[in-house]
Amino acid sequence: MVYRTATTLNGLIAGPGDSLAWLFAVASTAEPDHQEFLDGVGAIVMGATTYAWILRETDVLSDAELWREYHGERPVFVFTHGTPPVPDGADVRIVAGAVGDAFAAVAAAADGRAVWVVGGGELAGQFDDAALLDEIQITVAPASLAAGAPLLPRDLGPDRLHLHDVTRFDRFVHLTYRVTPAPRLP
Ligand SMILES: NC(=O)c1ccc[n+]([C@@H]2O[C@H](COP(=O)([O-])OP(=O)(O)OC[C@H]3O[C@@H](n4cnc5c(N)ncnc54)[C@H](OP(=O)(O)O)[C@@H]3O)[C@@H](O)[C@H]2O)c1
Repeated sequence: MVYRTATTLNGLIAGPGDSLAWLFAVASTAEPDHQEFLDGVGAIVMGATTYAWILRETDVLSDAELWREYHGERPVFVFTHGTPPVPDGADVRIVAGAVGDAFAAVAAAADGRAVWVVGGGELAGQFDDAALLDEIQITVAPASLAAGAPLLPRDLGPDRLHLHDVTRFDRFVHLTYRVTPAPRLP
């Protein structure tokens, strides 16, 4: 599973009120090729707040084609205790509970391709706790915020994080770390 997200340089993925204004404010002549990444993705995973942001900030509920533009036909697993609406025709699967219990279904849906964990950080952390996180890709924006949603609220050190690639895209830096799975609890 690959956790891929944009982040501030101080490790926040959204500002207060789920704001991405700090990200959209960056006028950059280049950025990582998102479509190329998506082409290798078979299934997508996200938490309730992230899904709510998409429903609120885009027109996917009124324009089902838009959902397809963003996600293709990929199954999207939304972890939530709620019952959010689903865009017409979208393959959105609502799940709750231990992420390890859902993994077999997520992996089957990915059909040999990568699973993209969109966020948030706590959900990515749950997958790491379950020794299911293989890679972290972060695009660091030239921004720092006093408060917001954390990138990865877990303790991981150099024994587990292996810097694999560093690429500059004008005002962004994209970092790829390979992750040694967390030791499983006895
Ligand atoms: N910078 C970027 O590129 C980027 C990428 C992704 C997200 N974001 C933003 O970052 C913020 C992340 O929000 P967040 O930290 O609240 O994380 P989130 O993962 O989007 O949502 C957290 C919520 O998901 C539900 N959840 C998590 N684990 C669960 C589990 N195992 N079973 C059932 N439900 C579970 C819970 O909601 P309920 O119990 O209420 O259902 C929990 O409060 C959002 O504003 C998002 O838009 C930014």
